[in-house]
Amino acid sequence: MSASPIFRDRSKLSPRYMPDELPHREQQIKQIVQTFAESCSLPEKFPLTTLQVIGPAGIGKTSTVIKAANVLEQEFEKRRLTLKTAYINLKLQGGNKFAIYRFLLERLAPELPAQGLSAEEMLRYLLRHMRQNKWYAIVILDEIDYLIKSTKDGSIIYDLTRLNEFEPGTNCNVKGVIFIARSTEFYEKLDPAELSTLGRVPMEFQPYSIKQVSDILEARCTLAFNPQAIGSDIIDDVAKITTSRDINGDVRYALDLLLYAGNLAESQGTGRVTRDQIRKVHGQVHPSITTEDIEQLSRNHLLSLVALVRALRSKKKQYVELKEVRSYVSELSEQLKLKKIDVEDYLDDLEARKLVEVRSLREIGLHGASLQELEPVLLEQIKSGEKQS
Ligand SMILES: Nc1ncnc2c1ncn2[C@@H]1O[C@H](COP(=O)(O)OP(=O)(O)OP(=O)(O)O)[C@@H](O)[C@H]1O
Ligand SMILES: [Mg+2]
Repeated sequence: MSASPIFRDRSKLSPRYMPDELPHREQQIKQIVQTFAESCSLPEKFPLTTLQVIGPAGIGKTSTVIKAANVLEQEFEKRRLTLKTAYINLKLQGGNKFAIYRFLLERLAPELPAQGLSAEEMLRYLLRHMRQNKWYAIVILDEIDYLIKSTKDGSIIYDLTRLNEFEPGTNCNVKGVIFIARSTEFYEKLDPAELSTLGRVPMEFQPYSIKQVSDILEARCTLAFNPQAIGSDIIDDVAKITTSRDINGDVRYALDLLLYAGNLAESQGTGRVTRDQIRKVHGQVHPSITTEDIEQLSRNHLLSLVALVRALRSKKKQYVELKEVRSYVSELSEQLKLKKIDVEDYLDDLEARKLVEVRSLREIGLHGASLQELEPVLLEQIKSGEKQS
């Protein structure tokens, strides 16, 4: 039993919580399941099929694809077959191809030792193991645009879309590879061979309408809040904010907003979330960065971001120079008794994550407007990371 007057279960607003139902994505789930439907009746015959899912932030791409993969796993199970899903978030699991394939191997077949194998050998080894043990897989590569942008290497696309050519004459037990990205901008970084194996017709997800966002939030709020703690009028307000041009339909932002406003209602003892609390939190949390973004950052990324925020604040400018950020990083590392870091690498990566804008070495700013209210949140995250490590 929760003692909170506001929340029944606040974890239901967390980005890590996967709801049982995804209202207004039923159609898309069905379409993905359809794409692979025949793989469970005739798995040996079904060819390796690739799919791209494209659409802006926070509109249910990841959730929908994972849900569809779960449905497919169940379909296989009904026929006493095994389909495993390997979900890889490349923003979290980034790094080079080698690290990604090793992760893939760990995900699908943790029993296989990967030591001493090259990237290609790992794939070959995995495919052989799957054939011998008669199980199948779907590989989901999320945030592929981030990987391509940060590594400028599209060969992972080439490899994975041609898994069926790895050992000619044999069946490929990986039945599907699904790529998820925010936009098709990353096509520009691919060479023609990579682009052609990827296929050119992505499945595009459109942002939710205001009514759809309301429905989605209504369902999440029923799980997360006590019945009296949040009204439909408040949920409609949040839906309106969420579909505004600034937020562009990002449901993750809406969930954050509800969580923070709920926390505020709790600490102010109002017994229910008020319109003012929503407005206040909306003014403070900046849409260009969400709690999930922050949680995905390493300590060095966080340090670099705080240093940039501090530099911008002290110079009162929209952009600062790299050397200014550097000096704030040194200061901060000293204060927190951390090792010095090479801030340039982290700023580049933060740019690939669309949190920072690096126009040149003399013009570095924050993506979108100010993130300055976030400084305490970032510092908190750095400190809590330290406790864990
Ligand atoms: N139809 C829906 N029903 C319930 N919750 C949803 C729905 N769509 C999105 N959400 C919630 O919104 C958040 C963002 O969804 P998701 O991670 O699937 O978005 P995304 O399109 O993959 O975003 P990004 O491009 O940032 O990765 C998640 O917490 C998810 O649970
Ligand atoms: Mg996603």
